[in-house]
Amino acid sequence: MKGKRIFLLLAIVGVAMFLFGASINANESGAVDDVFEMNNTEAFAKHKKSICMFTHKKHTAAEPDGYGIACGECHHDDNGKPLELKEGDAVQGCMECHDKAEKPKKPKGIAKEEWKEMQLEYYYGAVHSNCIDCHKTGGAGPVKCAECHPKPEKK
Ligand code: HEC
Ligand code: HEC
Ligand code: HEC
Ligand code: HEC
Repeated sequence: MKGKRIFLLLAIVGVAMFLFGASINANESGAVDDVFEMNNTEAFAKHKKSICMFTHKKHTAAEPDGYGIACGECHHDDNGKPLELKEGDAVQGCMECHDKAEKPKKPKGIAKEEWKEMQLEYYYGAVHSNCIDCHKTGGAGPVKCAECHPKPEKK
């Protein structure tokens, strides 16, 4: 039974991830779930908001089934240059470069451009900017907090 074997494999992977404390969105194998929780425990000691579900496959799949977004809109190299990828290619997690944890605190009197740059040093800033900017400029996709962090704000 193929289904059974896949289930067993998933169970083993699940146990392995539990044992090694790796999060689902931080592997380097090139495997990625169609939909996954954005639940980065390295970036946030505690999630105050509800966990955002990310429809990875739907974002990348061609229209009309998906939103037809190129990998490079979100995955780039260490210069920020968009990567040309294909399904199954491994990528680095955002936190490998946008590596500051927790939410940035805006210093008093900081210039607008500088604040923008500073926020990008944080995983928090990189993710919010990537997701929300596209939804805003594209005129589609959630921009309000509760649309990505649905209430009640519990885990
Ligand atoms: C397009 C979806 C989206 C929108 C809109 C959005 N967020 Fe987030 N938010 C995320 C993602 C993705 C993360 C990263 C979570 C992770 O990987 O752990 C995140 C992380 C966070 C975190 C840190 C983790 C936590 O739970 O404490 C806070 C706080 C947060 N968001 C607050 C907000 C607030 C406030 C707004 C509205 C001003 C907002 N978000 C709008 C997607 C969104
Ligand atoms: C709309 C944005 C977006 C698009 C488009 C996108 N990805 Fe991702 N992808 C992400 C985010 C966000 C993560 C989670 C990264 C993290 O946890 O740091 C991710 C995770 C992954 C992972 C899991 C491994 C890891 O380290 O997290 C792989 C592999 C991956 N993407 C490959 C691709 C490929 C190949 C394409 C194009 C077919 C693609 N992605 C398109 C945003 C996107
Ligand atoms: C290999 C390192 C690296 C990885 C991995 C990486 N980034 Fe970046 N990112 C950069 C660099 C370098 C820049 C450009 C310099 C800057 O503005 O900080 C950048 C720029 C950005 C920007 C600003 C782009 C703009 O045009 O304003 C966003 C947003 C962003 N990254 C989000 C992400 C997200 C989300 C992920 C994970 C899916 C990710 N990055 C993964 C290095 C990386
Ligand atoms: C380059 C553009 C782009 C980027 C980057 C992007 N999105 Fe989206 N997103 C879209 C579009 C287009 C839709 C579809 C909106 C519609 O048709 O109503 C969408 C829809 C969504 C939805 C609602 C529908 C669904 O599929 O769940 C969520 C939630 C969402 N995006 C979360 C995220 C998160 C989280 C990130 C960052 C990790 C992200 N998006 C990055 C373009 C983008």
